[in-house]
Amino acid sequence: MKDLSTLEQQLERLGIQDHPKAKQLLQKATVAENPRVKKAVKQRLHVFIQSYQEYPFNGETPNVSYTDRPVILGETVGEGRTYAIKEDELTRHLLTVGATGTGKTTNHYNILDQISTPCWIFDRKRDYRHLIHETTDVLVIPWNKLRFNPLQPPENVGLLRWAMVFSEIYSHAGDLLSGSKNYILSHVTELYKEYDLFRDRSPPYPSLHDLEALIKSDKVNFVRKESNYRDTVLNRLEPMTTVTGPIFDCSQGYSLPELMKRNVVVFEFGGLNRDIQNFIQEILFAWLYEYMFQNGSRNGQLQLLLIWDEAKQAFSYKKEQSDAAGIPEIDDLTARAREFGLGIMAADQEATKLTDSLKANTGTKMLLPMKDWKQFKSIAESMKLTEIQKRYIQNLDVGQAVVQHGNRKPVPVDLNYYDVEKEVSDNDLKKHQSEKWKSLDYTLSQGKDFSNSSSSSGDSSLAEYI
Ligand SMILES: Nc1ncnc2c1ncn2[C@@H]1O[C@H](COP(=O)(O)OP(=O)(O)OP(=O)(O)O)[C@@H](O)[C@H]1O
Ligand SMILES: [Mg+2]
Repeated sequence: MKDLSTLEQQLERLGIQDHPKAKQLLQKATVAENPRVKKAVKQRLHVFIQSYQEYPFNGETPNVSYTDRPVILGETVGEGRTYAIKEDELTRHLLTVGATGTGKTTNHYNILDQISTPCWIFDRKRDYRHLIHETTDVLVIPWNKLRFNPLQPPENVGLLRWAMVFSEIYSHAGDLLSGSKNYILSHVTELYKEYDLFRDRSPPYPSLHDLEALIKSDKVNFVRKESNYRDTVLNRLEPMTTVTGPIFDCSQGYSLPELMKRNVVVFEFGGLNRDIQNFIQEILFAWLYEYMFQNGSRNGQLQLLLIWDEAKQAFSYKKEQSDAAGIPEIDDLTARAREFGLGIMAADQEATKLTDSLKANTGTKMLLPMKDWKQFKSIAESMKLTEIQKRYIQNLDVGQAVVQHGNRKPVPVDLNYYDVEKEVSDNDLKKHQSEKWKSLDYTLSQGKDFSNSSSSSGDSSLAEYI
């Protein structure tokens, strides 16, 4: 029989030293004078510890009633209790991490199938186009079909405010320094002035092509710094306007408030340059935030769910570390999005590459099997798992996850399976979606000639509006 101090150490290692039963047995064993009683109590403590080594979880499932719009994630392993969360709790965000092929996307499908809130999916792997056969109101927008003008300010958001947000996101996505950011800001403001928007906010709006043309026409007085900014910004802008074809060449893109009302919108980014993908995702997120800030209600309900599979690209740890870029804009928005009912559901294989902020700001974490210890440790630490729990998770099967929700203890769950036939080709998509694409309105960019523009650096005009 092990001595009491060894049993005590085991309790601590398992993180159950404060369990009432453990405390009671430990105290009994300590004070017992009769050797036979002492031995019997130690025996019971040993068996108690043993049971935790076999199944080191004793977390409760969340209390969710059928009136809470429950989303069933699955059933607890071994016990078969339903594990559900409230749909509105997705405003606290949900993160799924697991090795490739362990069930991250399947978990997203299962959740999507149960929620009634509209959602936007940012898809790099053509995983979500297959949903067109599952529900009727799914709009899939491959990147070359997108029409979006990032310079068109959201309704009721101040022009200067939007110019600042645009410059921040644009320089963040392109890893530009603050000098270039100010350079962009002054030119966007100049564009708004050229389009007379400070006097009358009605369309047309300038496009990114206009921004490029204005900067090209810039009569740099060849003060070195200014011309450096000009070259740096143009270096990022030119590929963006040429590679993307007609995406940004519009005065008014698709109505985003209208897209927010759709059941499911899938933005497909596969094949598009990564910097441009990042820029579009971040500016759309910022657009939503600013729009909701001015026009949304703060009733705590989920208004729109944003979904990222392969989240490390948008929520990149590298960017968080980059001094030059300052605070990652998307991260900053993650922490504040909840206020306006914007939920985030993200998944990735590599926890180490996700921002700490995403890991810290997610109310529901789901950990699927992982072989890579470094990746595993990174997410296990943010879930505060004990050593024994970590060991247990190593033996999980595909489709099984340890789920941690709010302040509750983690619980292993057999996730619901959701079968989707992955068979939608580009041609099928075209056939299925062409009517939907045709129904989306946008207006082409007018395009201005700035060759005789009075713009120099733009700084003086900016000062007029601050
Ligand atoms: N809950 C589940 N129950 C049973 N099997 C599952 C479950 N989830 C996933 N699977 C199985 O695992 C396969 C891979 O799942 P899925 O595509 O969701 O993984 P993933 O983690 O998204 O992979 P990747 O990292 O490659 O995107 C599924 O085709 C299915 O066979
Ligand atoms: Mg996947």
